[in-house]
Amino acid sequence: MATIYLDNNATTAVDPRAVEAMLPYFTEQYGNPSSLHGLGESAAQALAQARAQVARLLNAPARRIVFTSGATESNLTALRAALAGAKERRRIVTSAVEHAAVLEPTARLEREGFEVVRVGVDGDGRLRLDELERAVDERCALVSVMWANNETGVVHELAAVRAACQRSGAKLHIDAVQAVGRLPLDVASSGADYLALSGHKFHAPKGVGALYVRDDERFEALLAGGGQEHERRGGTENIPGIVGLGAAAKLARAWVDGPGPRELGELRDSFEDELSERLEGLEFHGRASARVPNTSNFRVEGVSGEALTQWLAAEGVCVSTGAACSASRHKPSHVLLALGLTPAQASGSVRVSLSRFTAPAELERAAELVVSGVERLRALAAP
Ligand SMILES: Cc1ncc(COP(=O)(O)O)c(C=O)c1O
Repeated sequence: MATIYLDNNATTAVDPRAVEAMLPYFTEQYGNPSSLHGLGESAAQALAQARAQVARLLNAPARRIVFTSGATESNLTALRAALAGAKERRRIVTSAVEHAAVLEPTARLEREGFEVVRVGVDGDGRLRLDELERAVDERCALVSVMWANNETGVVHELAAVRAACQRSGAKLHIDAVQAVGRLPLDVASSGADYLALSGHKFHAPKGVGALYVRDDERFEALLAGGGQEHERRGGTENIPGIVGLGAAAKLARAWVDGPGPRELGELRDSFEDELSERLEGLEFHGRASARVPNTSNFRVEGVSGEALTQWLAAEGVCVSTGAACSASRHKPSHVLLALGLTPAQASGSVRVSLSRFTAPAELERAAELVVSGVERLRALAAP
């Protein structure tokens, strides 16, 4: 039975072209980029090339990119760096639908004495901009919001967030993990002071990511060490991973600039239309909002999301009940609760996330199996 992989918001397959680019850096070009000999020099060149490739994906100057171990580290670095220069500003404004990689460190900062305001979303997953605008004033040091949500795919209205930050002088951090490689992004017009991305969400390997840093002044490295990354992140650089990230960034840039996002969105929409035609009691989450083109989140009345996910897994279809990390904790999704779903409705939800490698035939088969899975589970539950 061939696997149909529809859990790309959890992680993606590494593009074989990225793997190929990485291979020489394990066994042939294994130098340390800080070394002065030829092997060091070629590692340094690879590092520079990858930095330029990631920068091009974001439309940023290359020197503004810092390589990290992924978005968890990038987010934490951004939060710490933004607050290092905050002085008497003690408020952080974030949203109720952030990933754990922002929720957890902001909760920690709250315990350390910062005031944290978590702005809600409406029933379609859109940020409540009125709440945000009220909270972002001269007491606010930092606003941290995601570009696109990992569960619903809803794209946040960042222009209003940017304007609020500019009015109040607060720094803006954007967790762009689920938008990078799915939408064309322009970091300059986003107004971000910091922007986080993670390689494994766009066909680069796991354990490598980047942080865009608009201004090094007062920037404080989270990992102090040997002065790598222009004093912004200590530790010998993960050259093979960074080369893979650069190669994936180059491929992603070409894809987002072409018809890819539109075509992927059409594929996702046709999957949703097919389910709508064939299933009673189906509700989509975030469908009325702007979304990244690869994500669909829905629930079917009377059917447990976990049971459907497991039924599909047994048929070779990989989907998820929500964020990979919270799905394994068996808790209803905080994102869906924030949309106003009851815990039972949130637990009934399923996330299907595509990638540029998803074939139309795979999605047709998946729709078929969702319909038969729902029928089967309803039959089992019938008195
Ligand atoms: C929106 C968002 N932010 C941050 C992360 C964390 O990325 P990583 O696990 O690569 O550090 C993820 C991963 O699921 C995510 O979806």
